Amino acid sequence: MAELLTKQDKRSCLCGELTAADIGKTVCVMGWAQKQRDLGALIFIDLRDRSGIVQLAFDDKTDAATFEKAFSVRAEFVLCAKGEVRARGEGAVNRNIPTGEIEIYVSELKVLSAAQTPPFEIVENSPVNAELRLRHRYLDLRRPDMQRNIMARSRITKLARDYYAENGFVDIETPCLIAPTPEGARDYLVPSRVHNGKFYALPQSPQLYKQLLMVSGYDRYFQIARCFRDEDLRADRQPEFTQIDTEMSFVDEDDVMRMHEGFLKYMFKEFYGIDLGGDFIRMPYAEAMDRFGSDKPDIRFGFELKNLSSLLTNTEFKVFAGAIAAGGSVRGINVKGGASFTRKEIDALGEFVKSYRAKGLAWLKWNENGDISSSYAKFLTDAENESIKTALEAAPGDLLLIVADKDSVVFDALGALRCHCAEKLGLLDPMEFKFLWVTEFPLLEYSEEDGRFYAKHHPFTMPMDEDLQYIDSDPGRVRAKAYDIVLNGTELGGGSIRIHSAEIQAKMFEVLGFTPEDANTKFGFLLDAFKYGVPPHGGLAFGLDRLVALSLGLTDIRDVIAFPKVQNASELMSKCPAETDEKSLAELGIAIVKTEE
Ligand code: AMO
Ligand code: AMP
Repeated sequence: MAELLTKQDKRSCLCGELTAADIGKTVCVMGWAQKQRDLGALIFIDLRDRSGIVQLAFDDKTDAATFEKAFSVRAEFVLCAKGEVRARGEGAVNRNIPTGEIEIYVSELKVLSAAQTPPFEIVENSPVNAELRLRHRYLDLRRPDMQRNIMARSRITKLARDYYAENGFVDIETPCLIAPTPEGARDYLVPSRVHNGKFYALPQSPQLYKQLLMVSGYDRYFQIARCFRDEDLRADRQPEFTQIDTEMSFVDEDDVMRMHEGFLKYMFKEFYGIDLGGDFIRMPYAEAMDRFGSDKPDIRFGFELKNLSSLLTNTEFKVFAGAIAAGGSVRGINVKGGASFTRKEIDALGEFVKSYRAKGLAWLKWNENGDISSSYAKFLTDAENESIKTALEAAPGDLLLIVADKDSVVFDALGALRCHCAEKLGLLDPMEFKFLWVTEFPLLEYSEEDGRFYAKHHPFTMPMDEDLQYIDSDPGRVRAKAYDIVLNGTELGGGSIRIHSAEIQAKMFEVLGFTPEDANTKFGFLLDAFKYGVPPHGGLAFGLDRLVALSLGLTDIRDVIAFPKVQNASELMSKCPAETDEKSLAELGIAIVKTEE
């Protein structure tokens, strides 16, 4: 039987807040029974709420009805307990928890709700499978580690609001039902009942609206914005996620980067007391690719890429010569300490790079004892072998790994391989925070498949002034006023200075293959708005889910989202997406065509 709270039952504190300083006080706590221990004449109950655990004590002097009730308590019962805080007996002190010196000697107990045995134990790091956790997410979220994550997210969100408000940003909500956008990821569409056959889209980001707000003169805009993208899920990608979204007027790249770097410094200081130090590194995209094979380099460790092509121009080894002749390159990394990998592990690295389309992996293992084994050395001259060793600064204990292919494959494969090896060698400390800006991104990206250019960031990104001259002759060469903020190999946020000149925007659409009519149908309202006085502007959006996860040393953003989706974009608890009834479909003018599996 559930007992009711009366006016007198007022919670006086949280369970985890009580310490020896409270001894002698009468308190009232409420929460969930972690466990009940019945020692005959003594009963102990660990009572848990989101602040921690406190021990409730009952003995033979406890009133019989209360003792009886305590006896009936099972795990996850919801209780209200009143009593006096007292020191625990000699030998009963638990130094592992903050409340371990005290207990509440209970005079009044109410069972506010009984509970079935939960499908998994509500404890830290409960070793249950992800599916079970997600099906009972409300219980999973009751576990202390999940509660810490979710509460940390709340704190970080508040720090963002504080920082941006302090810096004059105006918090403005933009709509969630918007016009479908043609570029970028796939839209989630919402059918209109009033306009049968027409659709809203859920926003992939507030991009166009925040630019319009600059036209409207709000100058500095900020929003904790929910975004929706129908794309394949990964550990760092959800179909609906949250951005800390911003836009500023009358700024250049440096202004925007400084403002947001300021937020990260403020956040880490307030959240952890960590001082992130001076200016973050700014690395042009080309350098990031050349040194790390990635536009989101993890700079917690070395193993940088070295271009070996110039050392191998005359080589007779077909694998290397072929790649160079085809306009590609031969590049390698030196995995310091990698000589400890077994032959089997090195073969596995060969398989690893194949998933990045590399045709093979050439390697040289220089054991601590001086022995050298290699997959490629026998095909090269002594001079070539020596020059590779010198270029890669090889020494005993090292493992040299080389890929020859077109540049894009070499970068992808070696970029991923250096991280994979660092992980294998235990070099990745999730609590070491290495930020950097990647700048000067290419404006455009060519799709072989579609035979056209796409905007690398989005079609409103401003080309770099000095590169504008190449926009017709060599569009692929044009760099953009775009920047990403990267943390430990993850893109945490990105943004750009936007085009605010009608001529440059028209040129951009032309390069992207839009006719003026196309551009007008798709973005007409933005282009119209720009005719009425548009300030130079730019902005950035952080992925809040990624920021929170990485700040906590976590890799899966599901651990910082209260109710996430799984791999196939469904939600296991409420079981969505779900079918709907005929009547709703009829109102929407929608008939379902079953596709074959
Ligand atoms: P962009 O598309 O780079 O830029 O997104 C900004 C940041 O949002 C996060 N993010 C995601 N997080 C979780 N799941 C996803 N599916 C997902 N997709 C993106 C990333 C990313 O860096 N409007 C522009 C910003 C601008 O130009 O101001 C934009 O949306 O952390
Ligand atoms: P092979 O001549 O095919 O036996 O290759 C000799 C070595 O070169 C093997 O270790 C292969 O894994 C490696 N290899 C093959 N293709 C490539 C490539 N594209 N890049 C680097 N190494 C390669």
